[in-house]
Amino acid sequence: MSILITGGTGFIGSHTVVELIEAGETPIIVDNLSNSKEIVLDRIKTITGICPKFYKVDLCDMTALDAVFAENPEIESVIHFAGLKAVGESVSLPLQYYYNNIVSTLNLCECMKKYGVKNLVFSSSATVYGTPAEIPIKETTLLGQTTNPYGETKKMIERILTDVYKPNPDWSISLLRYFNPIGAHKSGLMGEDPCGIPNNLLPYVSKVAEGQLPILHVHGNDYPTPDGTGVRDYIHVVDLAQAHLKALTRARKVTGVEIYNIGTGRGYSVLEVVKAYESATGRKVKYEIGPRRPGDVAECYADATKAYEVLGWKAQYDIADMCRDADRWQRQNPRGYES
Ligand code: WQD
Repeated sequence: MSILITGGTGFIGSHTVVELIEAGETPIIVDNLSNSKEIVLDRIKTITGICPKFYKVDLCDMTALDAVFAENPEIESVIHFAGLKAVGESVSLPLQYYYNNIVSTLNLCECMKKYGVKNLVFSSSATVYGTPAEIPIKETTLLGQTTNPYGETKKMIERILTDVYKPNPDWSISLLRYFNPIGAHKSGLMGEDPCGIPNNLLPYVSKVAEGQLPILHVHGNDYPTPDGTGVRDYIHVVDLAQAHLKALTRARKVTGVEIYNIGTGRGYSVLEVVKAYESATGRKVKYEIGPRRPGDVAECYADATKAYEVLGWKAQYDIADMCRDADRWQRQNPRGYES
């Protein structure tokens, strides 16, 4: 039996493919390579000894996607990572984000229905909570007003999948709400490879530590948090990958729509991350305090109890591991996969 991995050459997708192969599963990757590189397949092969079947396909191309399902009748589950995911970009390109993220998901569901594939794990995001109504955030916490089209597409897709389940009660749909995925595979062969100047904290810190960028601009230190800087729930990308395997195992046993917060349950401020990076790597991270970034929330971290109690999943790596692994990836790949 095979598992279709949409977006499988991306940051989280590729790390999940490695964990799946090492668990004896057979992933098949579809990816349009709009935000990833085919060389990731070589890295997966170097790590696991196996190069998964790969289709360069855009999920918005229904004919091409249908052909993948037709050619691989052994597909029994899908993990859906593919989607545009840059928060800031989504504000300036709303039509592209709504079209791409929604239509690709609708096409995927049509193909699953046509080919009798009934298990789906969806890459959602803590962004759906908007400004969290409570901290730590539970799966039952009211969803907030997201500040960007990217977050809205995640909320809409969760709603679409919940409605798709109703006439298909033999389906199993897992909605995994990621917090802040960071870090890299311990081999240093795979990691986060943002295009251009990173928007996210950890890749930016890595480039400052390595000397590629001069200084970290801390987006505000006047939040109602212990040291005034933003607090987030950073989770190692391999822990996040493992959560998908746990969700898949459960999806094969039960039907229904289930929501899980995938975080560590521990929040770290920007300055705490900087300190953790410096002590884990012995490298200096120069920073200056700047203005708040529009759309940022003060605090966002998970109550991860449900994933532990229901999936039997708990984050294994701590912030030092995340920083060390991110640093190794950065040093071994100064220009990401271009290197
Ligand atoms: C973390 C903290 C910033 C950069 C985003 C998406 C979310 C998810 C994860 C997809 C904040 C501060 C950052 C910098 C800084 N992606 N920061 N200087 O915004 O929590 O979440 O990525 O699902 O949807 O919104 O992550 O890493 O951008 O910011 O001070 O140069 O670091 O203000 O407090 P964020 P982030």
